[in-house]
Amino acid sequence: MTEHDPTEISIRVRVNGIGRRDHVPARLTLADYLRTRCELTGTHLGCEHGVCGACTILVDGEAVRSCLMFAVQADGSEITTVEGLAAPDGSLSPVQAAFRTHHGLQCGFCTPGFVVSATAFLREHPTPSDAEIAEALSGNLCRCTGYQGILKAVREAADSIHETRAAAPADTDAVAG
Ligand code: FES
Ligand code: FES
Repeated sequence: MTEHDPTEISIRVRVNGIGRRDHVPARLTLADYLRTRCELTGTHLGCEHGVCGACTILVDGEAVRSCLMFAVQADGSEITTVEGLAAPDGSLSPVQAAFRTHHGLQCGFCTPGFVVSATAFLREHPTPSDAEIAEALSGNLCRCTGYQGILKAVREAADSIHETRAAAPADTDAVAG
């Protein structure tokens, strides 16, 4: 059994469906925990003070900025990072596929945050207007793209999720995102 620093705090989380138990310093951010302890480096760090949205992940289904949360605050939570959005067979989620189709990225640094934010938004707003999409993504910053490809991607993802739901049998609840 490995020794741990007695000042560290024990947490249990599920990350992308896998249960974990770790001992973490009280002030370790959730972003750093995911990147360094879980080796999930898809969660990016831009500003590290809640402005850019690059570090957005889902905690119990809610989009949160993982640079603003301590790992200990996530104790007992279900966490989804960008690595957890694809299907188990590796097929892309509707949002990921639409980003690829519309080339909603250039350097890609902002992309995980946009994809996670859009996924959470479309789960809550399955039939958004273009204005609602733009508003929902206004908290994520991109320095490269001019946003048009990103907005087109989220529009297409919204339409494709809606069509899939409409075509599904009444007793089947299609999963968005
Ligand atoms: S790194 Fe978290 S919001 Fe910018
Ligand atoms: S694609 Fe480079 S920051 Fe958005």
